[in-house]
Amino acid sequence: MLAGYAWGICAPGAICLNLEEDIMKWTTSMSLFAAITLSCLPASGYAADVPTVSPEAVADYIYAVIENHRTFYTTHVVQLLEEQGVAKAGEEWATNKKTIPLPVQIINETSQGFSTKFSGLRYQLISLWPINVKNTPRDQLDRNSLEGLRLNPERRISRIIKIQDQAYFHAIYPDIALSQSCVACHNSHPNSPKKDFQVGDIMGGLVIEFPVGSR
Ligand code: HEC
Repeated sequence: MLAGYAWGICAPGAICLNLEEDIMKWTTSMSLFAAITLSCLPASGYAADVPTVSPEAVADYIYAVIENHRTFYTTHVVQLLEEQGVAKAGEEWATNKKTIPLPVQIINETSQGFSTKFSGLRYQLISLWPINVKNTPRDQLDRNSLEGLRLNPERRISRIIKIQDQAYFHAIYPDIALSQSCVACHNSHPNSPKKDFQVGDIMGGLVIEFPVGSR
């Protein structure tokens, strides 16, 4: 199942023809991502001899898909539209027709659709210096994880948490300022508490969380 999951996701996002098709393909591949990811989450009722996948591996797969979709959207939709002067990415995308969602909003908005409709899968970009206070770490442990990632950005930091008697696998991956556009926008944003980000800095983390064990 997992091999099919990885290949099935990569193919639609990899083909790119023109602007409208880019957006349509991107949307389609996000939906596909939803369906296939959820089918890979641990479920109760498995026969004992059916091979299972560790939560760490599931989180790594989800992370790879999210990050590649974000990069694809940034490169083939946001940058293209901005270069052509057609539209800009911004927070006011819901009310301004000339504005399309920022890459971070793609992540946070689609996660809301997942968690209500399906299984409690949640993902979110958080930071110690959030522009939006909603992206503040949930607790001191998440804060510690973000500090830990700054010192050692090579690995995710994960733990099991309990929410209303349900166990969740909770992982945080480093979110790195890959380009000048990341730091320029954050440093100049009026709500950003930090104004001296540099390329290569850990700007925050991507939280991936999903239920594990019997539900
Ligand atoms: C054009 C402006 C812009 C660019 C470019 C941009 N961001 Fe952001 N970013 C924002 C805004 C605005 C938010 C808050 C969005 C919200 O309301 O949740 C945000 C949110 C975030 C967050 C969540 C914490 C917070 O600040 O609220 C992280 C982490 C983040 N961005 C990292 C990055 C990285 C890494 C890049 C480059 C790969 C990047 N951003 C590029 C504007 C930008």
